[in-house]
Amino acid sequence: MTGADPTSIPRSVPDVRARKGAGGPPLAMVTAYDTPGARVADQGGVDLILVGDSVAMVVLGHPDTLQIGVREMVHHVSAVARARTRALVVADMPWLSYHRGPSDAVANAGRLVRAGARAVKLEGGRKRLPVVTAILDAEVPVMGHLGLTPQSLHAIGGYRAQGRGIGQAWELVDDAVALAEAGCFAIVLEAVPVVLAAAITDAVPVPTIGIGAGPACDGQVLVLHDLLGLHPGPDPRFVRRYASLERDAVAAVAGFAADVRAGRFPVEAESYAGSDELAAALAAGRGASKAG
Ligand code: KIV
Repeated sequence: MTGADPTSIPRSVPDVRARKGAGGPPLAMVTAYDTPGARVADQGGVDLILVGDSVAMVVLGHPDTLQIGVREMVHHVSAVARARTRALVVADMPWLSYHRGPSDAVANAGRLVRAGARAVKLEGGRKRLPVVTAILDAEVPVMGHLGLTPQSLHAIGGYRAQGRGIGQAWELVDDAVALAEAGCFAIVLEAVPVVLAAAITDAVPVPTIGIGAGPACDGQVLVLHDLLGLHPGPDPRFVRRYASLERDAVAAVAGFAADVRAGRFPVEAESYAGSDELAAALAAGRGASKAG
């Protein structure tokens, strides 16, 4: 059974924006980085698919998200877009793709849109307003990302919850209000206290989508590989595993290797039969075939 309603229209940015305060269920977003992942996400019925720069860590084995650039993101966005999902595809703008000024940011957002994204996400609050405005002026919808912003890993001193102090909490409220006023259609809140996520969600007229931000947000996002159990862990506290695919995949490969070694794979039905004539000719040898 799948959660998607195949008759429903594809999600658009205005659809997502309109969910704020509409009384419907919270928005569901997951990451995907390739065509099968996007297909799984879409058939699972999510509203949004994020081609996150987390691909650098989750799929490419890097220690952080700073190791990926626009060219690689374009590659992954195209793969996701080829799944032709009804869920709205949002692409992360990687580190340094929007830090060198509005004109560079617009060009990079454009590359992600041409690869198949219908919106981009970037990290940071008021100091990013010039690039947010420039990208919006180029008609590309922007999703904000506040709280724990992994591209600021070194500046904030590690992957730790943000906004625990009163001063920083108000800064984040002001950042969220500024992003919404600038025109962001949604804001991801990562690793902030539940009460702060609730205050931000109340303060902005656009949906907040939480990851490690508690239940008061207008939506929730998880990394696909985390929820599928496609890595050994350990998981951050906000991850819930809905499957153990790494364990299942290891068992599947071990079964294949054991079957090969025991001569159980392949059997006749898994092979291409040849005619009796072909068998006889091969048995008789090359010289006999030529003579015949
Ligand atoms: O890159 C990513 O996966 C993200 C989510 C954690 C929101 O930004």
